[in-house]
Amino acid sequence: MDYFSGRIFSVTKIIWLIIFLMIMNTVKSSTPEDPIKCSSSSSSSSSGVLKKKSNCTITNFIGAFPDRTTCRAAEAFYPTTEAELVSTVAYATLAKKKVKVVTRHSHSLTKLVCPDGDEGLVISTKYLDRVLNVNASAMTMTVESGMMLRQLIEEAAKANMALPSSPYWWGLTVGGMLGTGAPGSSLWGLGSQVHDYVIQLRIVSPAGPGEGYAKVRTLENGNPELDAAKVSLGVLGVISQVTLKLQPLFKRSVTYVTKSDSDIGDQAVRFGREHEFGDITWYPSQKQVIYRIDNRVDSSNTSGNGLYDFLGYRSLPSLVLLTIRTNEETREALEDINGKCIDGRLISTTFRTAAYGLTNDGILFTGYPVVGYQNRIQALGTCLDSPEDLRITTCPWDPRVKGIFYQVTTFSVALSQVKSFIADIQKLVTLEPKSLCGLDLYSGIFMRYVTTSSAFLGKQEDSIEFDFTYYRSKDPLQIAMFKYNGLPHWGKNRNVAFIGAINKFENADKFLKIKQIYDPLGLFSSKWTDQVLGLNKDGLSIMKEGCALEGLCICSEDVHCAPKKGYFCRPGKVYGKARVCAKQY
Ligand SMILES: Cc1cc2nc3c(=O)[nH]c(=O)nc-3n(C[C@H](O)[C@H](O)[C@H](O)COP(=O)(O)OP(=O)(O)OC[C@H]3O[C@@H](n4cnc5c(N)ncnc54)[C@H](O)[C@@H]3O)c2cc1C
Ligand SMILES: *[C@@H]1O[C@H](CO)[C@@H](O)[C@H](O)[C@H]1NC(C)=O
Ligand SMILES: *[C@@H]1O[C@H](CO)[C@@H](O)[C@H](O)[C@H]1NC(C)=O
Ligand SMILES: *[C@@H]1O[C@H](CO)[C@@H](O)[C@H](O)[C@H]1NC(C)=O
Repeated sequence: MDYFSGRIFSVTKIIWLIIFLMIMNTVKSSTPEDPIKCSSSSSSSSSGVLKKKSNCTITNFIGAFPDRTTCRAAEAFYPTTEAELVSTVAYATLAKKKVKVVTRHSHSLTKLVCPDGDEGLVISTKYLDRVLNVNASAMTMTVESGMMLRQLIEEAAKANMALPSSPYWWGLTVGGMLGTGAPGSSLWGLGSQVHDYVIQLRIVSPAGPGEGYAKVRTLENGNPELDAAKVSLGVLGVISQVTLKLQPLFKRSVTYVTKSDSDIGDQAVRFGREHEFGDITWYPSQKQVIYRIDNRVDSSNTSGNGLYDFLGYRSLPSLVLLTIRTNEETREALEDINGKCIDGRLISTTFRTAAYGLTNDGILFTGYPVVGYQNRIQALGTCLDSPEDLRITTCPWDPRVKGIFYQVTTFSVALSQVKSFIADIQKLVTLEPKSLCGLDLYSGIFMRYVTTSSAFLGKQEDSIEFDFTYYRSKDPLQIAMFKYNGLPHWGKNRNVAFIGAINKFENADKFLKIKQIYDPLGLFSSKWTDQVLGLNKDGLSIMKEGCALEGLCICSEDVHCAPKKGYFCRPGKVYGKARVCAKQY
């Protein structure tokens, strides 16, 4: 017992140190690595100008796909103009090579960026990041698809405009947010998904010899092909340019309020209807909910120059990351659930004390509400700012240091089903009160609002998107997907979330018809995208030892769990049709 309390005490100290460093944030981080690494680099292709490299591997921001494989490509191209993009697609089409687009940081966890086999090619959009047109009277902006959200927000603000809602992490690109249908949080207006603000885009796809093997299409609002292209998983070709409908720059007012979770089922939907940018963080094992009350305010008569710099997206010293990781691994190994619960409470208390990284003037937090311009609050990610410092500090998930490594499950549940789904999570917690403590270490269950989209692979109904981040899978995925018809986030999740998912999209067939027209040879498709789109029936589940713990299968035998570590395949306790790995003592 002494041993335990002693250890917990020292862990507490370490966590306070981490938090202190996060809040001080005096340290600068290292630039994330390019997700494409090539062993040879030749500066030009046949055209003589286009930058090209060969013999490459591709990975994502965290350095690992769910199945732990590495992806390869024979060549990587770095076009700097749409014309170069067209010649790259033409080259691939003529040679019948598999192709994928890779963005600057490759933030999707799913295997969307891997071309099939070793002989394919990848097209990096990292040099396609310019503003092409700003129209203040029409309130539109046209940008190249490789532009990061951060730059999009900055450029819009310079013209006194704002994208009303977006993901919270600014390292994502315009092409990538469209590729996966990434949202922020809002039920109001056009909602929270960036693709619902697209009024025009240009896309480069394969073509026949008569058209020079590549074709550029301009898709306008109202064209059903735009509904296919604005959430495309990258299988229709390369999006070159995107025009977004913006709004006059506005201010918003943010207040975090902590309450008991007893009525969360009743509150969740109402809260989203009441507050334009609200979101909810739920710590079920602590019986606590943090409501983010977040509304647009009149910027002419409401003062404030607040800034949001979320603690979790700041850089941390590698040494601290190592400590956090080692601590969690030890807790896992010792099955120290109480320890996890204590760490979790400490972390959530600290985030609350530090106002989650909000300041009223960019320096100090003096109290709620924090009022500030949209561009200073909607998205963040200072850990990307970075002179190289030998990785003494870096983003918390940098795969080059042994740091935080996590799994994510993200799905949306229709508003009409939210109350019952939440009740099921509450039942799970009642059965095993500490089972969800692991979530607290990664900001609980994060709930955001998304709206019905005309995109064929977009949301089918107004919904709440639930984010579960954890070290080891302990999430109600099967309840959400199979009992409540949940839809997966295309860029997050592990394999099991996609089983049968495509059948829940009413217009999936329309999407596939357009795919057939745009890319009849399936050059932009891969085994993974075919599986996800239901074109390749088997393979999403990888049945092997331990697969259910890895999120690669739904267990049907104990061996799919880890019987040696005491995990056996059992029916779910709340949803009897689920098959989950349960600890047997
Ligand atoms: C720290 C962090 C925070 C995050 N926060 C959020 C959040 O708040 N909300 C949310 O929804 N998601 C979030 N995500 C997940 C992320 O939004 C998605 O995975 C996102 O789509 C990735 O964007 P990316 O630019 O990195 O694209 P990638 O992951 O590189 O690409 C995604 C897909 O789009 C395709 N693609 C990219 N560009 C093009 C193009 N020009 N033409 C055709 N296809 C293209 C790619 O080939 C790939 O298939 C977060 C991820 C991280 C790591
Ligand atoms: C390709 O790169 C790998 C390392 O990633 C190396 O082992 C191999 O020799 C390289 N092949 C060629 C043809 O350069
Ligand atoms: C801005 O948009 C309006 C309306 O669509 C259009 O008439 C005008 O030509 C555009 N201006 C620029 C500079 O593109
Ligand atoms: C700001 O102005 C709006 C109308 O323009 C008014 O409704 C609101 O009450 C004003 N707020 C304050 C704090 O004066």
